[in-house]
Amino acid sequence: MTSMIGWLGGAYPWVKAAHLIFVIFWIAGLFMLPRFTIYQCETVPGSAEDRAWVDRIARLRRIIITPSMVLVWIFGLCLAFDIGAFGQGQGWFHMKLALVLALSGYHGWAIGAAKKVADGHRPASTRSLRIMNEIPGIATILIVILVIVKPF
Ligand code: HEM
Repeated sequence: MTSMIGWLGGAYPWVKAAHLIFVIFWIAGLFMLPRFTIYQCETVPGSAEDRAWVDRIARLRRIIITPSMVLVWIFGLCLAFDIGAFGQGQGWFHMKLALVLALSGYHGWAIGAAKKVADGHRPASTRSLRIMNEIPGIATILIVILVIVKPF
C-alpha cells in the first residue's frame, strides 16, 4: 500500500483551519449543554419554561454540537493521516487521541443527562452537573498544550 503521508498537499492548512473552526463550535457547545441542563433543573417539569429549555437544548445538539463533533473528527483524522501521526515517536498524538475520545464520551454523557431532565427527572442536586461541566475546559487546556508544545 502506498503511503498516505502528505496526501492533502496544499489543502493541509485549509483542512487545519476547518478543524479548528469546528473545534471552537464543538467546545463552545459543550460548555453550554450542562449549563442549560442546570437551568432546566430549576423549572417545574411540564411548565412552559421547562419546554423552552427542552427546545433550546435539542437545537444546540442538532445544529451545533453533534455536527461539529463529527466534522472535528473527520478533519482531525485527515490531518493525522497526512502527517503520519499514528506512527512511532508521536506520543503527543496518542495522548491527544485518548483525550478526544474521552471528550466524545463526555459529549454522550452530557446528552444523556439532558435527556433525563427533559423526561421530567430532577436530580437531588446539580452539583455533579456543575463538576462535570469543568471537563471540557480541562480537556481543552491539555489538548492545546499537547498539539502546540508537543512535549513528547
Ligand atoms: C476529534 C479528534 C481529533 C483528531 C483526530 C485531531 C487531530 C489533529 C491533527 C493530526 C492535527 C495536526 C497537528 C499538526 O499539524 O501538527 C491537529 C491540529 C490541531 N488540533 Fe486536533 N484533533 C482532534 C480534535 C481536537 C480537539 C478536540 C482540539 C481542541 C480542544 C484540537 C485542537 C487542535 C489544535 C489547536 C491544532 C493546531 C495545532 C498546530 O497548528 O500545530 N483538536 N489535530
